[in-house]
Amino acid sequence: MRIALVSALAACSSAASAQPIEERAESAHSEPFYPSPWMNSKAIGWEDAYVKAKDFVSQLTLLEKVNLTTGVGWQSEQCVGQVGSIPRMGLRGLCLQDSPLGVRFADYVSAFPSGQTVAASFDRSLMYQRGKAMGQEHKDKGVNVLLGPSAGPLGRHPEGGRNWEGFAADPWLSGVGLAETVKGIQSTGVIACAKHYIVNEQEHFRQGGPNVSDAISSNVDDKTMHELYLWPFVDAVRAGVGSFMCSYNQINNSYGCQNSKLLNGILKSELGFQGFVMSDWAAQHSGVSSAVAGLDMTMPGDVAFNDGKSYWGANMTLAVINGTLPEYRLDDMAMRIMAAFFKMGNEIEQPPINFDSWTKDTQGPMHYYAKQGNQQINWHVNVQRDHRNLIRDVAAKSTVLLKNTKNALPLKSPKFLAVIGEDAGPSPKGPNGCADRGCNSGTLAMGWGSGTADFPYLITPLEALNAKTADEGTRLESVLDNYAWASTKALVSQADVTALVFVNADSGEGYITVDGNEGDRTNLTLWGSGDQLIKNVSSICNNTIVVIHSTGPTVVTEWYDSPNVTAILWAGLPGQESGRSIVDVLYGKVNPAARTPFTWGAKREDYGVDIIYKPNNGAGAPQQDFTEGVMIDYRYFDYKNITPIFEFGFGLSYTTFEYSDIKVEKSGAGKYKPTEGKTTEAPKFGNFSTDLNDYAFPSEKFSYVPYYIYPYLNNTSSAAEASQDPHYGKTAAEFLPPNAVASEAQPLAAAGPAASDEPGGNRQLWDVMQTVTATIKNTGSIVGEEVPQLYVSLGGPQDPPVQLRGFERIRIEPGQSAEFRATLTRRDLSNWDVASQNWVISEHAKTVHVGPSSRKLVLSAPLEF
Ligand code: NOJ
Repeated sequence: MRIALVSALAACSSAASAQPIEERAESAHSEPFYPSPWMNSKAIGWEDAYVKAKDFVSQLTLLEKVNLTTGVGWQSEQCVGQVGSIPRMGLRGLCLQDSPLGVRFADYVSAFPSGQTVAASFDRSLMYQRGKAMGQEHKDKGVNVLLGPSAGPLGRHPEGGRNWEGFAADPWLSGVGLAETVKGIQSTGVIACAKHYIVNEQEHFRQGGPNVSDAISSNVDDKTMHELYLWPFVDAVRAGVGSFMCSYNQINNSYGCQNSKLLNGILKSELGFQGFVMSDWAAQHSGVSSAVAGLDMTMPGDVAFNDGKSYWGANMTLAVINGTLPEYRLDDMAMRIMAAFFKMGNEIEQPPINFDSWTKDTQGPMHYYAKQGNQQINWHVNVQRDHRNLIRDVAAKSTVLLKNTKNALPLKSPKFLAVIGEDAGPSPKGPNGCADRGCNSGTLAMGWGSGTADFPYLITPLEALNAKTADEGTRLESVLDNYAWASTKALVSQADVTALVFVNADSGEGYITVDGNEGDRTNLTLWGSGDQLIKNVSSICNNTIVVIHSTGPTVVTEWYDSPNVTAILWAGLPGQESGRSIVDVLYGKVNPAARTPFTWGAKREDYGVDIIYKPNNGAGAPQQDFTEGVMIDYRYFDYKNITPIFEFGFGLSYTTFEYSDIKVEKSGAGKYKPTEGKTTEAPKFGNFSTDLNDYAFPSEKFSYVPYYIYPYLNNTSSAAEASQDPHYGKTAAEFLPPNAVASEAQPLAAAGPAASDEPGGNRQLWDVMQTVTATIKNTGSIVGEEVPQLYVSLGGPQDPPVQLRGFERIRIEPGQSAEFRATLTRRDLSNWDVASQNWVISEHAKTVHVGPSSRKLVLSAPLEF
């Protein structure tokens, strides 16, 4: 394993490109940034929380503070992550629970559409409402931190296993998705967690692997980091997110959870993030080094699941007592955790956790792994409220109509529907038949991995279609076996048939392999020979309507333009109401307006980048060089002039719209001033004793739970154990990076917030520079919603030809017009300047475009400054 200090201390240089891979592995380094920034009492939005946290943390003992920072160990308590309690103060252990689409491992909860699906709605309000509903359900189960939303992976690779957990292969749309979801979740008192920070773009090698020493390194230059991958996370900080999760992978050969440049430098200094950073589960690789690099909480607490050991816990207690870790750093961790807790309006006394992640039994062991503490652990509380209506609405409004010819849709009491494909029906195993949805069976409504929730029920397309057709006297027959060609052929060759073919493509998290896909997809074809099924059906039936459920784009090249394929819909991962929502769209109850949140290329190679499936650096950490810079997805297609099949932002409606009259008005934002000044000195809250006897396990009323991670010292052995440490006897200054323990006032980042500003960055980055308006007219005969999108060309040779910078989903009556209005901030118009470490509006001529997709930019105007 690479030692923490090597990567933490590594000298500065950006990701390289045209060198042999072994040299590149050595040259992509992450520059050090120390000390770890402490909280700012004046940060806007955090002031009250700071005061409450200070009052609370000042009363804590050293052991109690350590207990806040360190998880109790995998399966030691009820939630997927839980930190130690502080009974003396009445605080029960905080409960951290997946997932970004519902409460994982719980009963009587809702299964929401995925993040990527709601991104396709291009509807801020739906994103917010979905976040809020998920927050309510977590709250009602006793969860304190919801482990989502996700913007890492962003979607560099269409095959990326977890893209569906996040939003879009575009930073601006992802930023909106992240911010709205955070606001929704946190409106309920639950702390949201922006994850996985950062450039965790593939599942293969995220934690190393059998034949490699270390996790994959995503080698990314500073400009690409700021303009692309960091962007949505900035929006999360700006939205007031309470926590971040650092990722498994390395970034420029330094692990995500001890990368001082990314945690201390970018997140806490430049963005002024005031909440806490937790590790992904077992993504921590060092003790004091990760603490000084900016990690605030270790999850699930043990080094490897259930090994009973921890980098923190007792080791942290000792590190503070012996002076290796400055007290202020531990105080700051506790402050950040408690400030996030208070910021959401929480009181110290929390309702009990009423579910257990590890069993659905009513009675069972409170400490599951140790099988101790038998009692009631599941209360089976139904927390779903009426969320099914929202779920149905979100899924319908997120369904993208990609093709519609010969008036195939909406359906109008068809005479005969033939429903074809396994994806239309139920799984013989049941909707939750495979743990963490780790199989692809029946209709696909969720990917696999930790980003899941158990379905309370799953309405299949066939079920909902049956209900609808029965009411209307339509004949409906189905063949759910993708390979039963004889019976399918017999059905779809009959007179008056409309064939509805349901197909899918699945992916998930790398700890589960499904059909040879280790999280990431091995290809972009449909599963279950879906492409062949469509070709077979459409070779016979001249009204073949295709519905795709998938975790990203598939290659539709061989069949999409067949005249017999009359309509194509992408329904994403719709969640529990799948069937009813697709029926709403097929029959026109919901007039589609959603837009594809990624590009559909004609072939896999068109995306220009790919997953690293095989070690490419011998036994060393695989090296993934992001040499394409900011050109991913549609930016790459545009830059290389490659024609996609369906471009980013594309989606049809049952009505038509006309765009006219673009106007641009510049506003008088002043000249940009880099932030100046200094922080305060590092504050300390309270005192601690250095007598080791004060840190022993309690002698009374204490029952030891095996494998549990405690903050207490084992007095007799700790000195002996410590002497085994290679750093034993050295002072912090001797083995930690320069400045790692400095406590004096530090300079503020030029691109960062001033002392009394909102977190997110220099406040002038949000100055409105331009206002763009256009007129959109519904030229059809039915009411519809339209998503005008605003793109900018920043004009530089390294800039994408166009990039998304605004959108709105607007409802317009037939024959009526509406105004589309969007503002462009300084941030929207700037590039990251590596030399000055700040945002700069370049001299290049800039243009603004408005249109219904990234390639139908029907209106354009120059930007004047
Ligand atoms: C690992 C996953 O990467 C993360 O997203 C999840 O929150 C944790 N496991 C906890 O289950």
